[in-house]
Amino acid sequence: MRRFDGKVAIVTGAASGIGAATLRRLASEGAAVVVGDIQDEAGEAIAQEIGAGGGEASFRHCDVADLSQVEALVEHAVSRYGGLDIMHNNAAWTGGGWVADLDPEVWQRSIQVMLTSVFYGCRAALPAMLERGGGSIVNTASIEAFGGEMLASPYSTAKAGVVNFTRNVAIEYGRKGIRANSICPGIVETPMYHQMETFAKHSREDMEQLSALGRLLQPDEIAAVVAFLCSEDASGITGAALVVDGGTTAFVNLGGHSPYSGSS
Ligand SMILES: NC(=O)c1ccc[n+]([C@@H]2O[C@H](COP(=O)([O-])OP(=O)(O)OC[C@H]3O[C@@H](n4cnc5c(N)ncnc54)[C@H](O)[C@@H]3O)[C@@H](O)[C@H]2O)c1
Repeated sequence: MRRFDGKVAIVTGAASGIGAATLRRLASEGAAVVVGDIQDEAGEAIAQEIGAGGGEASFRHCDVADLSQVEALVEHAVSRYGGLDIMHNNAAWTGGGWVADLDPEVWQRSIQVMLTSVFYGCRAALPAMLERGGGSIVNTASIEAFGGEMLASPYSTAKAGVVNFTRNVAIEYGRKGIRANSICPGIVETPMYHQMETFAKHSREDMEQLSALGRLLQPDEIAAVVAFLCSEDASGITGAALVVDGGTTAFVNLGGHSPYSGSS
């Protein structure tokens, strides 16, 4: 018996990075999985890959910033697979810049895609989970929920909101069998990371110095923890903001230097 046999899961932003790794992980442990993403080709491709490997998977175009599309995504999972047990709200897009120069439209879109979307995902998924008698929600936040980053105010603001919104869902629905947790990754090597590297002009070595493990995390390492949170192994965990960061937040960053710079 695999941990997710008979379960149905939706992962948003699953055409790439952490979402794709989570989708593969949940499917490999028996879940029927639905990809919700705006990248149609990559979304279809991962659903087909899972299907070709003997799993159950389908893609549906979904802009998570649009409530009607998120509702349609949930309806698709329920009509095709008979219900919904797991919702991983994971998609993200952000812009950034100095606060005084930040385009209000960039701010609005970032908050819409990273925070309002999580509300939409939970709002749409909860009735289906209640129908099923329970479920598990995992929302992707970030270690930036706990501190700011230069030129990234929409991102860290949205992620802080995700952590507290998730606590609200946990306390409202815990007695109805639904657990809700956020996951707070550190620096993970995904396409989004590579964009950040270019945008912020940090070298890979600089980023590795920010980790106690001395390396970037891989999407599979986040997916394994999301799967844990979705599983009965985590039956006692709700309302948590679980940090998976290779130790990046374990040290105080004095003077902007990694504690490892200058040491071997
Ligand atoms: N990579 C990191 O270092 C890191 C660290 C902390 C948190 N995170 C978070 O992890 C999550 C996944 O990021 P990733 O690094 O895998 O990035 P990624 O760029 O590989 O994947 C993001 C996915 O979201 C999709 N997406 C973007 N806008 C969307 C929209 N409006 N509707 C639906 N889908 C949309 C993209 O098409 C893409 O498939 C995000 O919430 C991100 O903020 C990433």
